[in-house]
Amino acid sequence: MIMDGNGRWATSRGLPRLAGHRAGVEALKRVTEAAPEFGIGVLTVYAFSADNWRRPAAEIGGLMRLLRAYIQRETRRCVANGVRIQAIGRRDRLDPAVLRDIENTECATAGGGQLLLRIALDYSSREAMSRGEPPGPDVDLLIRTSGEQRLSDFLLWECAYAELYFTARLWPDFGRDDLAAAVSEFRRRERRFGALPEAAAS
Ligand code: FPP
Repeated sequence: MIMDGNGRWATSRGLPRLAGHRAGVEALKRVTEAAPEFGIGVLTVYAFSADNWRRPAAEIGGLMRLLRAYIQRETRRCVANGVRIQAIGRRDRLDPAVLRDIENTECATAGGGQLLLRIALDYSSREAMSRGEPPGPDVDLLIRTSGEQRLSDFLLWECAYAELYFTARLWPDFGRDDLAAAVSEFRRRERRFGALPEAAAS
C-alpha cells in the first residue's frame, strides 16, 4: 500500500502537512483493522522511503514522532488482534529511540497470526535488491492513493505479477469501503502469470 496524499489533504484544509500525516495514521488503523475481513494476511505499507530523507527536517522529525506514538499506542491492540508488526528497510540510519520502539513491537507482536503488518521504513527496493536481501512475499495487489500512478521504488521485485490499483482518494480519506472496492476490483481481474487462461486457473 502506497499511502499517498497526506500533504495535499492537509494543505487543502489550510492545515500543516503533519496534520495530514496524523490523519494518515488514522487511515492506517482503519485499514489494518479491516484487512483480515477481506482475506488479507500480509499488508505492507510504505511509511517512509529512503528518498523521504530529502524532505525538510521538521517533517521527517514529525513523521518519526508519529511513528513512535503509533507503535507505542497500538502494540497492545495489535497483540490482542493477532497483528504481527515487522519493519522492512534500513535500520542503521534510524534514530536509536525509533529503532528501540520498532524492536520492542516486533518482539511483543511476534506471535500474531491474523495479519502481518510490514512497515517499510527508510526503504528502497533497489537498495534492498542490490544488497542481496531476500525478497518478501509476492504482492498480489498494490494500492496507491491520491491519483499518482508510480511504484516509486516500492517492492519492485515482489510486484512482478501484482495487480496495480490506483485511486484518486487521498490516503487520509481512505477507509474500509475503499479497501472493499480495491479488493472487489482485484477479484475481477484475470491473473495469468504468463500462462494461458485455463493453465493459470488450474
Ligand atoms: C505520502 O504523502 C506519505 C508519506 C511520505 C508518509 C506516509 C505516512 C503515513 C501514512 C503516516 C505515518 C505512518 C506511520 C506508520 C506512523 P505525501 O506527504 O507525499 O503527500 P502529498 O503527495 O500530498 O504531498
